[in-house]
Amino acid sequence: MLRTGLAIAALVGFAAAQTVTLQAESATLSGVTVASSVAGFTGTGYVEGFDESADKITFTYNATESKLYDLSLLYNGPYGDKYTYVVLNSAGGSQVSLPSTTTWTTVSAGQVLLAAGANTIEIQNNWGWYLIDAITLTPSAARGPHKITTTPVNKNANADAKALLSYLGSIYGKSILSGQQDQASLDWVTQNVGKTPAILGVDLMDYTESRISRGASSIDVDHAIAHAKKGGIVTFVWHWGSPVGLYETTAQPWWSGFYTVATDFDIADTLAEPTGANYTLLIKDIDTIAVQLKKLQDAGVPVLWRPLHEAEGAWFWWGAKGPEACKQLWHILYERLTTHHKLNNLIWVWNSVSPAWYPGDSVVDIVSADTYAEGDHGPISATYNNLLSLTNDSKIIAATEVGSIMDPAQLKAYQADWVYFCVWSGDYISAGKWNSLEFVKKVYADEYVLTLDEVQGWKG
Ligand SMILES: *[C@@H]1O[C@H](CO)[C@@H](O)[C@H](O)[C@H]1NC(C)=O
Ligand SMILES: *[C@@H]1O[C@H](CO)[C@@H](O)[C@H](O)[C@H]1NC(C)=O
Ligand SMILES: *[C@@H]1O[C@H](CO)[C@@H](O)[C@H](O)[C@H]1NC(C)=O
Repeated sequence: MLRTGLAIAALVGFAAAQTVTLQAESATLSGVTVASSVAGFTGTGYVEGFDESADKITFTYNATESKLYDLSLLYNGPYGDKYTYVVLNSAGGSQVSLPSTTTWTTVSAGQVLLAAGANTIEIQNNWGWYLIDAITLTPSAARGPHKITTTPVNKNANADAKALLSYLGSIYGKSILSGQQDQASLDWVTQNVGKTPAILGVDLMDYTESRISRGASSIDVDHAIAHAKKGGIVTFVWHWGSPVGLYETTAQPWWSGFYTVATDFDIADTLAEPTGANYTLLIKDIDTIAVQLKKLQDAGVPVLWRPLHEAEGAWFWWGAKGPEACKQLWHILYERLTTHHKLNNLIWVWNSVSPAWYPGDSVVDIVSADTYAEGDHGPISATYNNLLSLTNDSKIIAATEVGSIMDPAQLKAYQADWVYFCVWSGDYISAGKWNSLEFVKKVYADEYVLTLDEVQGWKG
């Protein structure tokens, strides 16, 4: 059966034939029906009646070759903001937002790698209550060479930091560095996979006063120095327990004090009063962790430094009061550590995707995202593409925390050029649910994935 859109495309010649429109009313319908009362649709009707969880439209498209396509949905949303779920060839899938609208509207549904031959694209119910007119498939434009900067934003960056960013630039788009959060989990990989991750991820969490005074301690800095001595690369996150205002209840114990729900510490109020006691406590915490970062600098260890992570999620107190307070805090942190403490071994890794949160090109070396999708080894390409447009491709992009590791073949096919992945600790790597041991072995054996033995001498 030849679809309407294909026939039209064939008539208007080669260039237009690049985009294929598949009408919903011609697709296979399950639990949904064709309607025509809301005017302005294309083809002979649209599909409505997404009200049961199993409701779906299945489009079939025969591709002549395996190729990456941009997928769009043409929809109408008279019943408010909704989500749909798009599934290619019965595997994986991605949620697509359908904002409220009373006109027929085109929305991007990301990219799909079609196989040669028959492919299915399902529009599954999810939130339901929207109208689908058609989908379009357009071959994704080949991306030109990257335009990234590989000189650190800190003018006084030392030779170690310069070498690290330059090395990342040299492999960007050609390889991905393997990374593992936490020394014990990295050791698990070494023992069970037979390869050691190139990057060790560790935390400055337990180096501040509010936690040390309650019994916390850490040797993560020592682990980092040891990993660097073996020729590896290190990254630090900072689960910054709020300096004051911890609830310390059974439900919100002190050790969860980086969470918004565990403290009444207000970052916006604190920053509004630079002479206040709470501002002083904030600076004191920064000065405390500066001592640790200095140890790393003195040991010749450059650090992929990722403070104020996942801010846009608002579940950590530094993101709880919105983007302005968070960006201001980032600038304070940057100034205090680089100018005041003369820490020149830091590569500044920003970790929110939304443009509203971005603190600016002059204080960010790398942009990144944290993504958890259990058992999904997809390339996280929609997020990668959002990060590309965040800086207009001027900064290297990293997958700083993942649950399930991306399949290297898909990374290449989707041109999702994450420079490194770092798997979160514990069960994420070792329990077999997020990543089977067989899959982890396959990833670590892939030539696209660089391991500790393969990054030796990266300092040049
Ligand atoms: C699509 O390909 C399948 C086999 O892969 C074939 O059976 C079917 O007829 C094709 N459909 C169209 C419209 O070409
Ligand atoms: C400092 O923060 C604590 C904890 O949120 C709060 O109780 C206190 O009122 C703040 N102090 C000032 C002067 O704002
Ligand atoms: C992005 O980069 C292109 C090419 O370098 C340039 O023409 C364009 O103005 C840039 N856009 C922004 C928003 O910086």
